[in-house]
Amino acid sequence: MSLILLVLIPVAAFILFLIVLLFIFFSIPSRRDFHFFRRHAIVTGGSKGIGFQLAVGLIERGCHVTIVARNVKDLEKACADLQVLADQRGQRQKVHWKSIDMTGGYDVIKSAFDDAARELGPIDILINNAGHSVQAPFCELPITDFEKQMAVNYLSAVHATRAVVDDMKTRKTGHISFVSSAAGQFAIFGYSAYSPTKFALRGFADTLHMELLPYKVNVGVLYPPNTDTEGFKVELETMPEETKKMSEAAGLFTPKDVAEAHLKDIADGNYATTMGLDGWMLGVLTAGACPEKSLFRALTQGALAGIFRCITLVYLGYFNGITKKCYRRRLAEAEEQRETEQQRKRE
Ligand SMILES: NC(=O)c1ccc[n+]([C@@H]2O[C@H](COP(=O)([O-])OP(=O)(O)OC[C@H]3O[C@@H](n4cnc5c(N)ncnc54)[C@H](OP(=O)(O)O)[C@@H]3O)[C@@H](O)[C@H]2O)c1
Repeated sequence: MSLILLVLIPVAAFILFLIVLLFIFFSIPSRRDFHFFRRHAIVTGGSKGIGFQLAVGLIERGCHVTIVARNVKDLEKACADLQVLADQRGQRQKVHWKSIDMTGGYDVIKSAFDDAARELGPIDILINNAGHSVQAPFCELPITDFEKQMAVNYLSAVHATRAVVDDMKTRKTGHISFVSSAAGQFAIFGYSAYSPTKFALRGFADTLHMELLPYKVNVGVLYPPNTDTEGFKVELETMPEETKKMSEAAGLFTPKDVAEAHLKDIADGNYATTMGLDGWMLGVLTAGACPEKSLFRALTQGALAGIFRCITLVYLGYFNGITKKCYRRRLAEAEEQRETEQQRKRE
């Protein structure tokens, strides 16, 4: 190869890289920083766990907050704790609560949110966090669980969003978050009722992000991994052996860390929030056609998605191995039990 070619090829590659960079730079929507001070935020599922910590973070950033859940005692306690925190800041922030079942339908949610807006001002921030998970192998789950999971994890967020979005569009300001899950990026054994609801939130959020861009209303998605909450402890009680073994690989995060990471992304105008190295890898891997506003994130997705796909295939192989191993062990146990029973009958 001539010397000219040896110089020309890297120069041409560099120029091509710069052109791609420019295309990406001009294609991604500009990030809009979001200011929390004196805004009114509604957090569904704000009486406990991740939702409560999101409410804490919103108070610390100067918001008025309305928390929504069903259990009145939990709401009263959470609201009192949040109000103490708010009072310590001396900014005359207010914390209210609304007890509704988020699966009660659009009218129930709209009426509660309208009340909240009359009490603490127009709703600037909506965090769709209420939800929970049931897990078991597909054939062991009652069919009604699929409907219930969709109602609480997905449809509640659609109804809540519809209840606030027109006003945000009119005022050309606002932020709407959806609390999905790492299981909304990577579906594993036992999550046939839960994962689709969290994947659905991502699809809904992707669409809304595009539709709301002209109205300057931000949309974000939080993908929590295993997080140390009451809900997660309940989950562990019924979690199939396979799911437990697979999710052990992901570690355990505190609700405070998860909430803080998401509030930082809201402030910076970022779309997706992931946690830890595994979460970051999953975020890069599943970015696909989802919105992106950070040039750095866009470039890492472009550069690393292929290699992370290969790593994920190794993970999938490991998880498939766990599934087969548990299956074979159960078969062997059943066989052993059958033999013992036959032996007993013969004696
Ligand atoms: N913890 C994790 O490991 C993890 C991982 C990934 C994703 N997530 C997601 O993060 C969100 C919060 O989880 P978490 O672990 O913090 O849960 P949590 O500790 O069980 O708290 C759930 C909150 O949602 C409320 N809620 C549940 N069902 C409701 C309904 N039908 N109507 C109104 N409020 C309802 C609960 O209050 P009431 O019971 O009083 O209504 C509570 O305030 C959920 O969407 C969950 O799927 C959690």
